[in-house]
Amino acid sequence: MKNIAVLASGTGSNAAAIMDRFIGYEDIFVSLVASNNPEAGVLEKAAERGVPTSTFTKSQLNDEEFMTELLRGIDVVVLAGFLLKIPAFLVREFEGRMINIHPALLPKYGGKGMYGEHVHKAVIENEDKETGITIHYVSENYDEGDIILSETVSLSQRDTPKTAALKVQKLEHKHLPEVVKKLARSL
Ligand code: GAR
Repeated sequence: MKNIAVLASGTGSNAAAIMDRFIGYEDIFVSLVASNNPEAGVLEKAAERGVPTSTFTKSQLNDEEFMTELLRGIDVVVLAGFLLKIPAFLVREFEGRMINIHPALLPKYGGKGMYGEHVHKAVIENEDKETGITIHYVSENYDEGDIILSETVSLSQRDTPKTAALKVQKLEHKHLPEVVKKLARSL
């Protein structure tokens, strides 16, 4: 049995896609959804599905003892719209077992401040002909770990940040659970 933890700061549509995907699996179990934001929609989505939830502060995230206890028994950590920087001790502890999803084709549109709608706005402002998703291992720098998968989708002149976001979200919900499954089963 592989235990998955999802860390998220916002709405949690990706967390929901992961939780829904593994319902009924005997070897993969989403055993924790945790957030730095007590108001995050993701906590409600987890509670609705009976998945244990937890919240932590920024200083708890950087407290090795606290996080080691919170993530005890977890095999794979998925950052699904998690906006705080992961401390080095966690990166090391979960090397090859912690992944992040980014709503653009990295290395373009990565780095601090580049999340959610900011990314889509920049892509549209630059009149890019395509956008997409990148799923990568987590390293100590934002959006810089080794890439596991990237998928593209075309943009037309009619696209807006909103429609680009919807196209990207569709790709995210399709591919993130698959990558989690492959990673969990490879351990
Ligand atoms: C997703 O689009 C994810 O790729 C992005 O936040 C969104 C969370 O949506 N992550 C980043 O921008 C990380 N830099 P969700 O809460 O509906 O899953």
